Amino acid sequence: MLIFAGTQTNTQTMQILDGIQLAKEIKQEIKSHVQEQVEQGIRAPHLGAILVGENGASQTYVDNKIKDCAFVGFQSSLVRLPTSITQEALIAEIEKLNADDSLDGFIVQLPLPKHIDQEAVINAIDPEKDVDGFHPMNFGRMALEMETFLPATPYGIMEMFERYQIPTAGKHTVVIGRSRIVGRPMSILMSKNGEPGNSTVTLTHSKTKNLAEITQQADIVITALGVPGFLKADMVKDGVVIVDVGITRVDDESAPRGFKLQGDVDFENVKHKASWITPVPGGVGPMTRAMLLKNTLLAHKKNNKL
Ligand code: GUN
Repeated sequence: MLIFAGTQTNTQTMQILDGIQLAKEIKQEIKSHVQEQVEQGIRAPHLGAILVGENGASQTYVDNKIKDCAFVGFQSSLVRLPTSITQEALIAEIEKLNADDSLDGFIVQLPLPKHIDQEAVINAIDPEKDVDGFHPMNFGRMALEMETFLPATPYGIMEMFERYQIPTAGKHTVVIGRSRIVGRPMSILMSKNGEPGNSTVTLTHSKTKNLAEITQQADIVITALGVPGFLKADMVKDGVVIVDVGITRVDDESAPRGFKLQGDVDFENVKHKASWITPVPGGVGPMTRAMLLKNTLLAHKKNNKL
């Protein structure tokens, strides 16, 4: 092979972390499991969802969660509430679901309207039905490495690392964003004593100085920022593993729905340096959906003492 001085680039053989394919496999496993249980006379798992208001992205997410339930043979129930609902009335709805023995678990889709205190709402969910893993009790259990419902997005990323056998032990993982849904739980899970895990984790956020200097040292970068194309090729090293959690709707008149989905990563340029990379769409999103089903299955197992 001839290599011409000055023209050689450090192009990696990049591989795609295919969330669509992996989620399909997981959903198929769940579907078979549910079928076996139903044949034995055990009732199917039942997931509930509360959707407040008209946020387009939230409606799509919830619609997809309901479709996933139908695919794997779960029962599902959707409670739609108006944007104008008071916090007290929303909590009263949550208490109804807490008391409903036919329901294994439920979620309250976020974000909520500004007049509602998100913390108060999450605290009102029975931790045993909190299949999002957002309740402080479940978050604490996760941090202590006890069995619990793991927040679906970080859980999906851990599952991806496991099924693609991506080494994480001793690696430097840089997480961008410290949200309660993704960044912070991700940092906890990647540092846990187990596989995947055992990473040396840097959790970066809006007050972090010299972010690029930190990401350049990362073996694994997980971005959950919501700024399209934020992570550029010069911010990462060759061979890096990239997980892009960003999924922002960007106006695009040529797209059928008038927008396209864009991740936090400048994919076309970063992919040349990455060993593994998640696409957007088709990476983390489908995995998040699959893991909510896994959490519901766990709730059903506990509920039925299986
Ligand atoms: N909004 C964005 N992601 C999520 C999620 O995983 N669960 C809920 N309930 N709301 C969300």
